[in-house]
Amino acid sequence: MRLTLSLLSSAIQKRPFYITTPIFYVNAAPHLGHLYTAVVADAIQRFEKLTNPHLNVIFSTGTDEHGTKIQQAAAKAKLPPAQYCDNLSREYRDLFKDFEVQYTDFVRTTEDRHKKAVNHFWRKLKDDDYIYKAKYAGWYSVNDEAFVPEAQTRTDITPEGKIRISVESGHKVEWTEETNYMFRLSAFKTHLQRWLETDGVIQPAKFQRQLLEYLSSETYFPDISVSRPAERVHWAIRVSDDDTQSIYVWLDALVNYLTVTGYPDEDVMKSRGRPWPADLHVVGKDILKFHGIYWPAFLMAARWHPPRRLLVHSHWTVDGGKMSKSLGNTVCPKTVPAPHALRYMLLREATMADDANYSETKFINIANSELADTLGNLVARSCGTVLNPRGERPPLHTCTPPPGATQLLDALQRLPDTCYDHYKNYQFYKAVDAVIKVLHLTNGFFESSKPWELKKRPECQKDLDIVLHITLETVRICAIILQPVIPELTKRILDKLMVPEDSRYWHNLQPTWSINGAIVEAKNIEGGKFVLFPRIYKDKKNQQKKATA
Ligand code: ME8
Ligand code: MG
Repeated sequence: MRLTLSLLSSAIQKRPFYITTPIFYVNAAPHLGHLYTAVVADAIQRFEKLTNPHLNVIFSTGTDEHGTKIQQAAAKAKLPPAQYCDNLSREYRDLFKDFEVQYTDFVRTTEDRHKKAVNHFWRKLKDDDYIYKAKYAGWYSVNDEAFVPEAQTRTDITPEGKIRISVESGHKVEWTEETNYMFRLSAFKTHLQRWLETDGVIQPAKFQRQLLEYLSSETYFPDISVSRPAERVHWAIRVSDDDTQSIYVWLDALVNYLTVTGYPDEDVMKSRGRPWPADLHVVGKDILKFHGIYWPAFLMAARWHPPRRLLVHSHWTVDGGKMSKSLGNTVCPKTVPAPHALRYMLLREATMADDANYSETKFINIANSELADTLGNLVARSCGTVLNPRGERPPLHTCTPPPGATQLLDALQRLPDTCYDHYKNYQFYKAVDAVIKVLHLTNGFFESSKPWELKKRPECQKDLDIVLHITLETVRICAIILQPVIPELTKRILDKLMVPEDSRYWHNLQPTWSINGAIVEAKNIEGGKFVLFPRIYKDKKNQQKKATA
């Protein structure tokens, strides 16, 4: 039923599925948290394509390159800002390549097409009187690139002496008095409330409640400053008819989501299938207010629809503590020994609603026990010449599987629908968990069937065939389901089983024995030794010894 519906919607759907990551600040090298945002978005778009083969996906990411923070980082690196941004922006693209983040669009806020979009957007707000000039005074946090209301700041004693900090982020704030352009945020309170009450618009629901509480508790809902004096912030987009002012980085940055659609060029937007409103913005909880309050208000003011949905994820901590570029305790994904396993662990461990903790020990344990010992080992044994000397997916001679397989076959039968729901709810950890449970059952079934004994007795050839058939069928199904999580590793498995590229979709998940009256013939598998994932050894020397053994 579900499948028919999704096939139907793909046939009539012309609009692309438009999904985004935030654009990343280039003030330091990417860390685990940034990678996580990108990997979550990537897994979602892969799942959409998996269940909807004809879907046209626009998956955008990019880099956020303007503002004081970047200006300061470039100065510290003793590089002209443009060159500094080129270098860091490239690091993000390299990272995404290594971790299979298959974006279709990469946008940089220093590109001309983006500046054009921002200027046009600004003009529209200004012409409609949503932007006005005023004197502004308040606490500004360079690190958060945001003004922080007085009540949300406090004094802190540090080695440098007494400083004022933002209670929420812990970052330093400075008193700033300047003439700014202001945006009439206050005019949108009711509209925002109504939008935020839409079912499922912010997921998980916890974050939707937070935004609604914020709106209702804030008796004073002030306008916000959307420009800075150009003399202070020169690395920014200038206000087109007032070069004493630079456009606030967050307004600049948020417009990237429109830039990607071709905005403001009608012809380009049309040629891209009119992707706005975005189907999904994936964002971390620290930038919830910018995406859940400011962005929809900007859009409403410019007479565009707000996005269809925000998916908000929580944070990764390291060894129990907060990780951030400014604190200098970040995990650099580049230095982790196995990218496939890291991607797996990020999706396998984290829930959207609560923080997850990274430790190297946990990472190595998960990678070894699940990718090497459970999945990899099962493929290697069931495909290897020792137990499968003909090198094939043997035929199924009967539709009544052995009694020892009942529990496994029941679980396998339910697996696709179970995982479908988990993926749709962005609960990757639950989908992976369900797959791993089935793989454990399969390992148990394989062991208890003693294929090594069946192999010795010619009269048991058919029994051996059934064991291999069921095992390899399980492997095929689990690999198809896991494609959004570990694209390259599952590709290797499906290549090994010689499953054609066009038979790796969700609608190919039905197990062979459930197809009534189907005559299943033997299918070849690729020859050669198969190691899906070599175990990681903490001690490097040990690893080399093992590898050469
Ligand atoms: O905020 N765990 O960029 P950014 C999980 N340029 N996710 C984390 C994390 C952690 N420890 N630390 C950061 C910006 N992130 C703006 C966005 S969009 C118009 C502008 C996530 O480089 C964070 O939540 O600081 C966010 O989703 C992403 O990394 C980019 O953060
Ligand atoms: Mg940040």
